[in-house]
Amino acid sequence: MSIEASRYIFYPYNPPAENYRTFSYFTPDEYPDIALTADECDALIAYAKAIDPHPGFVGAYLNVDEKIRSVVSHETGYNADTAVIHDKMAAAFNGANDHWWQFDIWGMGPIELLHYTPGGHYVMHLDHGPRHQVRKLSGICQLSDPEDYEGGTLEIVVGETDVHQMPKQRGTIVVFPSYMLHRVHPVTAGERWASVIWAEGPKYR
Ligand SMILES: [Fe+2]
Repeated sequence: MSIEASRYIFYPYNPPAENYRTFSYFTPDEYPDIALTADECDALIAYAKAIDPHPGFVGAYLNVDEKIRSVVSHETGYNADTAVIHDKMAAAFNGANDHWWQFDIWGMGPIELLHYTPGGHYVMHLDHGPRHQVRKLSGICQLSDPEDYEGGTLEIVVGETDVHQMPKQRGTIVVFPSYMLHRVHPVTAGERWASVIWAEGPKYR
């Protein structure tokens, strides 16, 4: 339906607030079957260290700009070592999407295992954008024990005065629409491992 044709139609659609969430997360305490265990996190970090890394890329053309994003990415795909995070992330994507957003999803992108050392960060950004229009949901797993680093907080921004700090508990999976602003504050001590995967689907229409 075109905008021209729809402008005279009144939509009495105003769902109650409890029927919608802007983001969702699965902590080990609340969702032990979806969040990763400490052993699973350890195994993934050990696996990541054996993969040749590349710098974290920025924007449509895979640029590197450490003022914007400073992290090392160990990128991989589905295999015997990543099946656990792939399948648990899929469960988180499906659970949250079925309940809150109902986006069209056709699958998942690559698995990025991210290593932040002091100074490592990612300024406020969207994951959705030019050449990334198939990204529907962003899934981030906290692989490190929060005792192992300082800073490195993941924030999701709903509005200028509505900023949400995500839980750091190890194994937690955070899911949010890729069109939402978010950032990772600089790590100030220690090291933080995390994983990001996108649930992808057809462009919005
Ligand atoms: Fe991001």
